[in-house]
Order: sequence, then C-alpha cells, then structure tokens
Amino acid sequence: NNSEEQIHLKAFAWLTKLYHHLLRHTKEGKQAYQYLLDRGFTDEMIDLFQLGYAPQSRELVVQFLEKKGFHTQQMIRAGVLTANEQNQASDRFRGRVIFPIRNHLGKSIGFGGRTITDQEPKYLNSPESALFQKGRLLFNFDLARSTIRNSEQAVLFEGYMDVISAYQAGIKNGVATLGTSITENQAKLLNRYVNTVIICYDGDQAGIDASYKAARLLHQVDCNVKVASIPEGLDPDSYIVKYGENRFQNEIIEVSNTYMTFLMEYLKKDYNLQLEGDRMQYIEKVIDELATIKRPMEREYYAKELANTYDLSINTMMQEIKDRRKKLG
Ligand code: UTP
Ligand code: MN
Ligand code: MN
Ligand code: MN
Ligand code: MN
Repeated sequence: NNSEEQIHLKAFAWLTKLYHHLLRHTKEGKQAYQYLLDRGFTDEMIDLFQLGYAPQSRELVVQFLEKKGFHTQQMIRAGVLTANEQNQASDRFRGRVIFPIRNHLGKSIGFGGRTITDQEPKYLNSPESALFQKGRLLFNFDLARSTIRNSEQAVLFEGYMDVISAYQAGIKNGVATLGTSITENQAKLLNRYVNTVIICYDGDQAGIDASYKAARLLHQVDCNVKVASIPEGLDPDSYIVKYGENRFQNEIIEVSNTYMTFLMEYLKKDYNLQLEGDRMQYIEKVIDELATIKRPMEREYYAKELANTYDLSINTMMQEIKDRRKKLG
C-alpha cells in the first residue's frame, strides 16, 4: 500500500535524524561516537552517512515515534519497532551503532546496527518489508551512482564499514550488498551503469568463496569482472586503516585480477595438480569457463596461457573451446 509506504519512509527519516543526533550531540551517544572515531572515521563521513546511535532505553524511540504521530502497532508491522512476548513495543537496535540504509533515491529505508560491546549478532538488520528488500538494494548506490556512471566502474564490498572507509579514502564508487550474496537483480542493476565491477571482498575463505560466486554471476550478466585480493586476515576497511589509502589504491584496486586469472587460480583448489587425472579435469573445467567468454581475443589470450602452462597445442585448445561454444548455443 502506497500511503503505508509513505508513512514508513517518514518514520525512517525521523529515526535516522534522532539516532544521528544522539550519536553526535548527547552524552549517551558518546561511547558509540568514540567507537567510530577509534575506527578512524572522520566527522565528515559520520555526518555524510548519517551514522547514529540507538539508545539503551526500550521506550525512548517508541515515545518519540508516538509524539511524531505514528501508530505503534503499525510501526511494529513495518519492522521499525519490535515487540516482546507481552507485545510491548521496543527499539530493535538498542545500544548499537546505526548505519542507515538508503534506497537509490537517498531515503532511509532500513538500518544496520553494529554492536559496540561484542554482542551477538555483530550486525542486526531491519527485517524485509515491501519497502526494504535486501536483494534489490545496494548500500551507498545513491551516493556512488554518479561516480560509477562517470568512471564506468564500481567496487563491490562486503560490508558497510568497507564502503565508508573506501569513500573516506577517495574511492567513491563503492557499494555493498546487505549481508547476503549478490543477487541477479543487483548484478543487472550494476551492469546497467558500469563496464567493470571490481569485487573487493574480505581476505578470508568466506570472502574468496563469495568472490567466486559474485564473479560468476556478474560475468553471466555481461559485466567485465575483476577481483581484488586482500591479504589473509584483513578486509578492505582494516587494510586501509593499516596501510593507508595510497597502498589500497595501488596495491589492491589497481592490480586486481581479471575474471579468468582469478578463476584459473580459484578452481585449482579442488584438484591436486601433481596428479595427471586431476590435471586433466582441471584443464577441462577451465576450458568450460573459457567457452563462456564472449570476446574472441580474450578467449584466445587465456587459451594460449593455458596451453603454454600445460604444454598443449593452441589449435587443440581452440577446437575444444569451439566445440563447447556450439553446445552453449
Ligand atoms: P563482516 O563480518 O565482514 O563485517 O560482515 P565488517 O563489515 O567487516 O564489519 P566490522 O569491520 O567487523 O565492524 C560483512 C557484512 O555482512 C553483514 C553486514 O552487512 C556486514 O557489513 N553481516 C555481518 C550481518 O548482516 N550480520 C552479521 O552478524 C555479520
Ligand atoms: Mn550531523
Ligand atoms: Mn567478512
Ligand atoms: Mn569484513
Ligand atoms: Mn571489517
């Protein structure tokens, strides 16, 4: 319902202001504010991204919304507030740092709330609703859009912190999914604006596996894909904090791998290349992938690389690719 959505939008707008105010200008928000400063965020970024703090009190936010004329039961249905077993309304994010999630028009439609005291879960997110659909949204797309369009490049991160850290470091075309794998809808959305997407996920196994999934999906919708590699144990945000923005730009973003180079490396993990049988299977697998590449020049380039590495003839390689392309149609 349209008018219901308008009401939700207004509620999220008010709450974004309240949380941000509490963080920036009250004693209660001081610890959360200090937490963000300690992590290296500037006031400019805290204000630009409207980062906030949700107070410990159960009722403050409930009463605030009531005073602004919102119906508590409706706020519960909209996922703005939660209800306990006695159906008492309360703030979902109590005690957490708030990351407003904006839609593509720049309006707050949900929140991510990070604990500052090692509570589980680390991040709590607003529930799905008609207004807030995680699979259709990219965090920061509204701010990044013009840079993405002009540079024809986007950088895809895992987390809110990575996007904001990168933005502070001058990389303004960063976006992130909201704690889920990238969907076809999000991939297509990016492809409408970019030539190249640089995937820049965390330097752990989960991040590498997620890079593989995202790379395949983006490749399928015709994006030119690159994959950056963050050292083990770091993520883009902690890399920037540790090594600075120049090294992040020059040693991570600039030297990110092409899709095929990443894939050829990644696919090795399932095989023991010392064994002849495994080696054959690996080569077959890579040829399957080569066959999905649209540009002939690119196909040939990697076919040559593969042929050289495994001492095969380029003619055989190109024939294999041709056969597979016929099957793909
Ligand atoms: P990470 O665990 O990599 O967190 O999750 P992070 O972004 O590096 O955050 P910090 O630096 O530890 O503060 C990446 C993203 O996955 C989602 C969030 O969107 C987060 O930004 N996530 C993570 C959740 O939704 N819930 C969680 O409990 C953890
Ligand atoms: Mn402000
Ligand atoms: Mn991670
Ligand atoms: Mn991370
Ligand atoms: Mn992090």
